Amino acid sequence: MITFALPKGRLGEECAALLARAGVDVSALEEDTRRLVLESADKRYGFFLVKPADVPVYVEQGVADLGVAGKDTLLEEDRQLYELLDLKIGACSLCIAGYERGLNARPLVRVATKYVKTAKRVFAERGEEAEIIPLHGSIELAPVTGLSDVIFDVVQTGSTLRANGLAVLEEVFPVSARLVANKVSLKLKSQEILPLVGRLREALS
Ligand code: PRP
Repeated sequence: MITFALPKGRLGEECAALLARAGVDVSALEEDTRRLVLESADKRYGFFLVKPADVPVYVEQGVADLGVAGKDTLLEEDRQLYELLDLKIGACSLCIAGYERGLNARPLVRVATKYVKTAKRVFAERGEEAEIIPLHGSIELAPVTGLSDVIFDVVQTGSTLRANGLAVLEEVFPVSARLVANKVSLKLKSQEILPLVGRLREALS
């Protein structure tokens, strides 16, 4: 059996559709259930449904052989795993956003984000002093309320920014979902994993 750590939520749905196109029986994922451990009817695949940011830890630890995680999460988590394939789903960008004046805050830009490590790295590489303000969600609220000058966050449709009167100031990284593998699993189960990667590649083309 190959086990997958799959993200719950909007990326998870796109992910199930792609796996189906690659011949994986995902009917268990389509059931309306609160169960977090599921398997295909043919028992070839097991699925753990996890919070998107937790996918890398399940794969690094070998609890799951494979996982699907956004590049944003992979950059932030910086785990020991193999990135096998760009799945071209969940496309968005990691951006600096806020009001136009936000980036001119001197001498210290206050940056609200849930990507704390990545934001520190980005501002350090730019040679800009930044105070990173860690938040867990509703990041756009920070500049609106004066908690921060800008945010560093993912932007997909841009509708959350627009609805709050904010705009993208700089696009820093393009983001899409990646298929990742546990290093040991890839060696021990290569006969099952590599053909699946091939079918996913075909499904994408
Ligand atoms: C993410 C992100 C933005 C929003 C961007 O939040 O943090 O708030 O999606 O998407 P958009 O450009 O399509 O509006 P998420 O939905 O994960 O909720 P959160 O506030 O709990 O982080």
